[in-house]
Amino acid sequence: MVKIDQIELPDFPLLLAPMEDVSDPPFRAVCKDNGADLMYTEFISSEGLIRDAIKSRHKLDIFDYERPIGIQIFGGDEEAMALSARIVETVNPDLLDINFGCPVKKVVTKGAGAGVLKDIDLMVRLTEAVVKSTSLPVTVKTRLGWDDNSRNIEEVAERLQDVGIKALAIHGRTRAQMYKGEADWTLIAKVKNNPRIRIPVFGNGDIDSPQKALAYKERYGVDGIMIGRAAIGYPWIFREIKHYINTGETLPPPTLEERVEVCRKHLRKSLEWKGPVVGINEMRRHYANYLKGLPNIKEYRNRLVTLKTMEEVEAVLDEVQQNYEGFVIERTPIEIINYHEKCPV
Ligand SMILES: Cc1cc2nc3c(=O)[nH]c(=O)nc-3n(C[C@H](O)[C@H](O)[C@H](O)COP(=O)(O)O)c2cc1C
Repeated sequence: MVKIDQIELPDFPLLLAPMEDVSDPPFRAVCKDNGADLMYTEFISSEGLIRDAIKSRHKLDIFDYERPIGIQIFGGDEEAMALSARIVETVNPDLLDINFGCPVKKVVTKGAGAGVLKDIDLMVRLTEAVVKSTSLPVTVKTRLGWDDNSRNIEEVAERLQDVGIKALAIHGRTRAQMYKGEADWTLIAKVKNNPRIRIPVFGNGDIDSPQKALAYKERYGVDGIMIGRAAIGYPWIFREIKHYINTGETLPPPTLEERVEVCRKHLRKSLEWKGPVVGINEMRRHYANYLKGLPNIKEYRNRLVTLKTMEEVEAVLDEVQQNYEGFVIERTPIEIINYHEKCPV
């Protein structure tokens, strides 16, 4: 068992990474169904929370079936971070996570996210301010360092543990790397194997198959892994990794029926949480992922992205289900997208 403060997680837990515009309640619901052991919200601006910005407040929505769930905040100002931690506490998540890893320019230039990696003293002060202002367990997610000349995660881990964080998730890249190159897990392993470090250490970066998950578990000895991009359009990654680690066998890929079923649930949850207009619009980017691998699916996808009501979408999904009944989609490698080329995050 792995414990984050009082939160009990199974051995070698699989965490769903926080992802802006992706890890919202509808997406989290389908990841939970498929075995994610701990999930996080998208990152939430501490300044936005204090200003009572609607977008930031909306991201605080969490549901009991999602537990254990962490709310992630970011910011570069101690007072704002402490105040927003108190706001987070009112919605009673299981833990509060601080983002010190986001490489996006608009975040970094304000001294928040990975910008803090340049200034460890500030990082420690921000963390301490949050720990002191809340009774929630506080965790941190960060990168190896700012750039190749400042891969300071070993010092960071010790100092953050000293001010009271209860777990650390490390993405094996520097801020300067953005998403380029391969994630380097050797430094993550060093943090994990430092005898001074008593808190759980979770590795993150580029896990896209059960085989890789098991190999990294054995090679780097981390307490669990966090998965981001590989879960987008493929929430089955969690159950596949679990099954492989427990039995050494590879699960067959999801059937067509399962794919359509999960797509329907995602859609339903999207409408429940976002309302009929935004819910339908924001679901459009997910169809291609769920239906990938079906021959001539383009025609259906093109129709799906123009429809305006749930009933119309459901009818097309019925058609897909009937027309492709029994079709087996071959296992294809999960495509890990470089999101910085495709979207602002
Ligand atoms: C679309 C997108 C949005 C992201 N948003 C966040 C975020 O809000 N907070 C955060 O800590 N990391 C964020 N990340 C980084 C991921 O949590 C994760 O560290 C990174 O994608 C590497 O893991 P992976 O290789 O499994 O995807 C985001 C990544 C992507 C692709």
